[in-house]
Amino acid sequence: MRLAGKVVTRLAALLLAAAGWSGAALAANSSQTPWGPDYFPNVPLVTQDGKSVRFFDDLIKGKVVAINFVFTSCSASCPMETARLRQVQQLLGDRMGKDVFFYSISIDPENDTPAVLKQYAARFDLGPGWTFLTGRRQDIDLLRQRLGLYMPALPARTAGTNDHDLSLVVGNQGTGRWMKASPFENPEVLATQLGSWLHNWKVASVRADPSYAEAPVRLPQQSRGEELFRTRCASCHTVGAPANSLAALRAIGPDLAGVTRSRDRLWLLRWLREPDVMLAEKDPIATALYQKYNKVTMPNLRLGVGDIAALVTFLEEQDPAVARK
Ligand code: HEC
Repeated sequence: MRLAGKVVTRLAALLLAAAGWSGAALAANSSQTPWGPDYFPNVPLVTQDGKSVRFFDDLIKGKVVAINFVFTSCSASCPMETARLRQVQQLLGDRMGKDVFFYSISIDPENDTPAVLKQYAARFDLGPGWTFLTGRRQDIDLLRQRLGLYMPALPARTAGTNDHDLSLVVGNQGTGRWMKASPFENPEVLATQLGSWLHNWKVASVRADPSYAEAPVRLPQQSRGEELFRTRCASCHTVGAPANSLAALRAIGPDLAGVTRSRDRLWLLRWLREPDVMLAEKDPIATALYQKYNKVTMPNLRLGVGDIAALVTFLEEQDPAVARK
């Protein structure tokens, strides 16, 4: 618990710094939390199903929540973020929508209509308890400010870039505990925080003693390729996961075992560099994969030549290990 406690303290400090909140009462009791209806605007929003809701009354009041800001035309970071949160959702299982709620709010409300959001959620096959929302731009900007996730637009903004803070705020409105977390955080740690740390006043912990030490990440002697794979690819891909295993069923993209043999080397190198361009050019393999994988596109991760080489080496190294099993 000590390690997890430290992490929580660090995140809380980050959150307070980012949002400019006073640190006086992070854990207030439910009746006097400073972050009540006076702090959080009760702005109207619309869900992906076209239902009108109010931010404070309907979405966060008395609930444990995770909130982030997305836009569906964002091709690189948002799908990664969504994929990672999807893992957290799966770890939380049937507590989603009962004890814990996720909200992804569009920062591109002009384009992200409820229908567009609904299609996006369906592509990722997101389960209950995760709502996508849109609304009026000024209301959404206000929410971003109050949640400490507002990045003012850069003056010389290139068309099409919608810079936004890739963080997520998790909180328990009832107890007034709020913190900022990265969606790239280890999903187990996030799930544990949401499921028990924020929540322990209501439900017994899922795990007795959650900590980074227990999380299934091998820290020592990680190669560059392995590190890249874990941080950039593993939220969507497995390597050599048994066909019907939970991991394989949960994955968003194909299992990558043997991919260095099954695909032409130049195809693979180019795919890792610019999958978006290959899809746009209607490369036949890319198009077939895209159809097969629910029309979720593999994001262009802006990998450098060295990163790509390290990843291919990592994938090759996995191959004999898989074959031996
Ligand atoms: C947001 C999810 C996501 C992330 C992150 C992601 N991919 Fe993919 N990947 C996909 C999807 C989905 C496909 C199937 C093609 C498509 O729909 O674009 C795919 C296809 C592939 C393929 C082709 C597989 C085949 O059978 O030929 C390779 C190789 C691949 N990804 C490698 C990677 C690597 C390496 C990374 C990390 C650097 C990565 N991907 C990150 C979703 C993702």
